[in-house]
Amino acid sequence: MRTQIVAGNWKMNKNLAETETLLSELAAKLPDTKAEVIVAPTFVNLASAVKALDASDIQVAAQNMHFESNGAFTGEISADMLLNIGVDTVILGHSERRSIFGEDDALLLKKVETALAKNMKVIFCFGEELEDRKTEKHFEVVASQLKNVLFGLAPEQWSKIILAYEPVWAIGTGETASPEQAQEMHAFIRKTIADAVTPTIAENVTILYGGSVKPANAKDIFSKPDVDGGLIGGASLKSDDFIAIVNAI
Ligand code: 13P
Repeated sequence: MRTQIVAGNWKMNKNLAETETLLSELAAKLPDTKAEVIVAPTFVNLASAVKALDASDIQVAAQNMHFESNGAFTGEISADMLLNIGVDTVILGHSERRSIFGEDDALLLKKVETALAKNMKVIFCFGEELEDRKTEKHFEVVASQLKNVLFGLAPEQWSKIILAYEPVWAIGTGETASPEQAQEMHAFIRKTIADAVTPTIAENVTILYGGSVKPANAKDIFSKPDVDGGLIGGASLKSDDFIAIVNAI
């Protein structure tokens, strides 16, 4: 049985007081669930989030990290710094990092390798742009994003990888992939990994869907056999919405 996960990517939202309020609401409302629940507040609020969730099953992830351990990299945060404050999970490859901050597959490979070398869990995001889908290149684009970063990993490293398929055209747009579109792509991802890595790894890897998941559509999307949960943006910023999505697993 694959691990089911609902993760909230808070992006650049919530100051310290707002972070503490949302976390205490989430901790109080968290239902008994078979899903792993993860939240990713901003860097400056990670340490307090770890403390606030000390007695909760909710885990804390970072939204990014640098591949070097330390040094002259102004504005960057290392894996060791995250581990030092109790954060052992990191989101890498988010489409906003790719498109706004120019992160490419070569850079992401270095980041993923560093995170895995440090024994961190990686939520690896990828997904096609609208143009790719319109021109029916979406499978090709996704296969290449996976291949360029993940297919050189050693088999045992895959236990630390969580995949998040996030079609760029569905992020923050209110337009969601239909449950059928999500299932079609998730099945393709599993088949691609089965062929390039191993069938067992393909069967066991958690694949999240991300892109305008809301309480109203979460159940239909999560009911698909190859969808193991969600990476949630906007709807993770309100405790009732996020908890409703957790309950949809
Ligand atoms: P939305 O849920 O706001 O579309 O964001 C999805 C996302 O980018 C999660 O990483």
